[in-house]
Amino acid sequence: MRADVITIFPDYFAPLELSLVGKARAMGVLDLQVHDLRTWTSDVHRTVDDTPYGGGPGMVMRPEPWGQALEAVGDGTLIVPSPVGKPFTQADAYEIAGLDHLIFACGRYEGIDQRVIDEAAARMPVREISLGDYVLFGGEVAVIVIMEAVTRLLPGVLGNASSLDEESHAAGLLEAPVYTKPASWRDREVPEILRSGDHGKIARWRRDQSLLRTAARRPDMMASYPRESLDKADRKALDEGGFRITPPAVAE
Ligand code: ADE
Repeated sequence: MRADVITIFPDYFAPLELSLVGKARAMGVLDLQVHDLRTWTSDVHRTVDDTPYGGGPGMVMRPEPWGQALEAVGDGTLIVPSPVGKPFTQADAYEIAGLDHLIFACGRYEGIDQRVIDEAAARMPVREISLGDYVLFGGEVAVIVIMEAVTRLLPGVLGNASSLDEESHAAGLLEAPVYTKPASWRDREVPEILRSGDHGKIARWRRDQSLLRTAARRPDMMASYPRESLDKADRKALDEGGFRITPPAVAE
């Protein structure tokens, strides 16, 4: 995968040289280039912003440097982090991980002149993505988050690919709690069942924990979990945990 990041703060992206994203780059799975938007300014002050048409607070990023920057990096899928974008999910991470060329446009101030996005959308797919319902100073941190979520899905990056199937959000449920050695720590014991060696019971326990956590913490996720994927044992666990799950409608 190739990823071009256009920003006025190239230094923000130092974390993407570390850890597994750094390893993916070193392995050649990810070719990530960070570009300074000011490269494409032509005035002595290297200006990238101006006051908004129609008035209002703050500044808006001017279209000219963006137009040139996007031409320089070529076409792909343009990703624009923005609080007005679609909320980022694991499903988006999987979709993006399947793309060949990502271009990230990091907006600052009140955002980028809309014509830049409209013009780009006429020749390539554009995704405006929000990290959540809050406002950041700019898109840089969002790009780091998106790239981290995406890079771990690229082939060969995670040693144990099966860990992807079971993790939180992949299956529409939150993951069960995890434990390691020692078995007893500060008078707190690892649940007996996890030390039993009974794989059937362990799987059941994890499934129950997963359902109860999701029902308690993320009623929204539980509500969209397919009812037909809940078997009798699942319903029993939820029922005993005090969660009422409506049974699927019986076909007439
Ligand atoms: N830029 C500013 N706020 C943002 C958010 N919540 N998500 C993505 N990009 C942003």
